[in-house]
Amino acid sequence: MFYNSNENQHGLAHDPFKAIVAPRPIGWIGSKGADGSLNLAPYSFFNAIADDPKLVMFASGGKKDSVRNCEETGVFSVNMVGFSQVDAMNQSSAPYDHGVDEFEKSGLTSRQCELIDAPLVVGAFAVLECKVTDIIRPKTIDGEHPGAYLVTGQVMGIHIQDDVIVDGRISADKTQTVSRLGYMDYAVVKDVFEIKRPKL
Ligand SMILES: Cc1cc2nc3c(=O)[nH]c(=O)nc-3n(C[C@H](O)[C@H](O)[C@H](O)COP(=O)(O)O)c2cc1C
Repeated sequence: MFYNSNENQHGLAHDPFKAIVAPRPIGWIGSKGADGSLNLAPYSFFNAIADDPKLVMFASGGKKDSVRNCEETGVFSVNMVGFSQVDAMNQSSAPYDHGVDEFEKSGLTSRQCELIDAPLVVGAFAVLECKVTDIIRPKTIDGEHPGAYLVTGQVMGIHIQDDVIVDGRISADKTQTVSRLGYMDYAVVKDVFEIKRPKL
């Protein structure tokens, strides 16, 4: 099948777009408001965009609390979601008012990052401590702003739980990283294989 995605007449029961761009890693964004309030929310429009220096991004549909806090304090943590924390991650996505602490609402313990003034999720198998580098409002081809905010950040410090490292490598068997598919679906990697890059 083919369809014009601006008209979006795909004829399916649900818009397939997010099921096509899948699996997406989940950045579980920890941040702090200028008023000192703690905030936590999952973003699957999330990824790494450079590794030297290390840059990451997340995108928000509208100016949600995580974006507001990034504007106010200029820092955020990215907490990676292991399967054991999937229910807490989901709970933290509820539309709480600004100032409500989603760590507390989700039964999680927070603690201060090492290098930045933002909270992290205790028990996350990896955490990236980030300083905001840009907050961009992406445009459409008509030059209009669809309401999305793209936050990029430079990774300043990285936490890794020792027990997910096996023979010097992070083990997907141990992390049980949760990723987002389309619809209400999620995935955990079960089948890892290795391919060597070609040499000329
Ligand atoms: C797995 C998952 C992924 C999500 N990804 C996004 C996303 O990429 N962008 C977005 O705007 N909202 C996303 N949401 C919804 C936000 O988490 C939700 O709106 C949350 O209340 C925002 O919190 P905040 O206002 O504290 O930032 C996602 C929710 C879940 C459960």
